Amino acid sequence: DWTMAHFKDVEIAKIRDQVGGGKVICGLSGGVDSSVAAILIHEAIGDQLACIFVDHGLLRQDERAQVENLFRETYNIPLVVVDASERFLAALKDIDDPEQKRKIIGKLFIDVFDEEAKKLGEVDFLAQGTLYPDVIESVSFSGGPSVTIKSHHNVGGLPERMRMKLVEPLRELFKDEVRALGRELGLPDAFVDRHPFPGPGLAIRIPGAVSEDKLAILRQADAIYLDEIRAAGLYDTIWQAFAVLLPVRTVGVMGDARTYDYVCALRAVTSTDGMTADYYDFSHDFLGRAARRIINEVRGINRVVYDITSKPPGTIEWE
Ligand code: XMP
Repeated sequence: DWTMAHFKDVEIAKIRDQVGGGKVICGLSGGVDSSVAAILIHEAIGDQLACIFVDHGLLRQDERAQVENLFRETYNIPLVVVDASERFLAALKDIDDPEQKRKIIGKLFIDVFDEEAKKLGEVDFLAQGTLYPDVIESVSFSGGPSVTIKSHHNVGGLPERMRMKLVEPLRELFKDEVRALGRELGLPDAFVDRHPFPGPGLAIRIPGAVSEDKLAILRQADAIYLDEIRAAGLYDTIWQAFAVLLPVRTVGVMGDARTYDYVCALRAVTSTDGMTADYYDFSHDFLGRAARRIINEVRGINRVVYDITSKPPGTIEWE
């Protein structure tokens, strides 16, 4: 793609110009945006960039290993991985309000990131994978009477003490352009085309209080569901698909025993920007297959339901 190749060269020159001999840190989320930003900046300034990946313990199956592998093996980019899952779980104990969860996770994330950044010594710049829609959204949120439905816009959330200058090479791009840039930088399609994943992770896919047990159950169900979606060749036509673990237990039978286990809800939507969405019209055959596998393979789930709510009035996530 000539346009993206050109954009890449221009941005690399801009980054070099802005950063000079300074040191830059970048927080990775595992998502496309922060990854593309980090890889682009690394191409511009090499090991003047340090990346930090905070594992909050709310990730999907194998996600952390995938990020480590991508950065260390594929790109040879220095990466600090912090396992903070126990801290996050402790902070989330008994918290069942969605916005409260987001606040706790957001604040702790910054604290942990900040602690790690300090260990790296003097740092001059903070890199972020802010996109154009993030810039627009944060402006309209602060300027108008619009209501924040979920407090998830990530712009301007920096604490006072982190007075680093920002490097935001994706500020003019839309999501599809970031994907094109990712391809230009050699990111594998499977990574570039991944569905969006929320910062608070699986915490907002477990309505009610989050626990290690529930996370483990949800991870397995979610992995099976996505596995079936990929096997059916449907992954790329869906905007987002994921499992939700409901805090409700229902009675079932397994063999000749009675079970009393959780309900798993499956969600899949099509969308162009996440602002509106339609539920995905799976065949009953597909739904039956996914449900059967989840119930047979995941201990702790004995019932599966499919969410046929579009947005609006529903949101994509359940919290
Ligand atoms: P909703 O659920 O509001 O989601 O329809 C729209 C898009 O935003 C994602 N989302 C979040 N992303 N932090 C994030 O980084 C959050 O707290 C958050 N909540 C929702 C959601 O996955 C969907 O892509």
